[in-house]
Amino acid sequence: MGLLVKLLGAKRTLDIGVYTGYSALCIGLALPEDGRVIACDLNREWTAIAKRYWQKAGVQDKIQLHLGPAQQTLEGFLAKETGCFDFAFIDADKQNYDMYYEYCLQLIRPGGLLAIDNVLWSGAVADAAINDDDTAAIRALNRKIHADLRVEISLVPIADGLALARKI
Ligand SMILES: C[S@@+](CC[C@H](N)C(=O)[O-])C[C@H]1O[C@@H](n2cnc3c(N)ncnc32)[C@H](O)[C@@H]1O
Repeated sequence: MGLLVKLLGAKRTLDIGVYTGYSALCIGLALPEDGRVIACDLNREWTAIAKRYWQKAGVQDKIQLHLGPAQQTLEGFLAKETGCFDFAFIDADKQNYDMYYEYCLQLIRPGGLLAIDNVLWSGAVADAAINDDDTAAIRALNRKIHADLRVEISLVPIADGLALARKI
């Protein structure tokens, strides 16, 4: 992911789902000094751990943590910064992935990149017998992205599956 951020020459980025901060750290380390990560999460305890390690790695000034539902944070940016972001990583609650995808598509510039984690969902998306809400949400989004003429895509089958969607 750091390599992708560097290849894009990204400066403005979004990390949706922070947990203990690994993805934001990878992005932050790859950004230039004036680069920024808008990091969205609602868990104060886990993101306190993240903040400790961002500090240790010296990237704390590049990462702006927004505590609260990512929907609210993204809507705030939509009001003023449509098309201003270069890169977004979506890795929060699965049932809201489609909303995050739509918001990020508006927030990133043409040529910008969306990375969506867990799109294979341990293989469950390919198993017709599994239909819980998270699986159904990811499966539906995969279908939608596959047919979406607003993006060019690649599904990278590493770990739990990473979808890359470049905004046209
Ligand atoms: C899979 S973890 C993120 C992992 C992180 N990207 C990493 O690299 O380690 C998912 C995170 O999404 C957060 N989350 C869940 N629902 C959310 C919401 N509605 N808004 C913002 N964050 C949310 C959880 O608190 C959790 O920290």
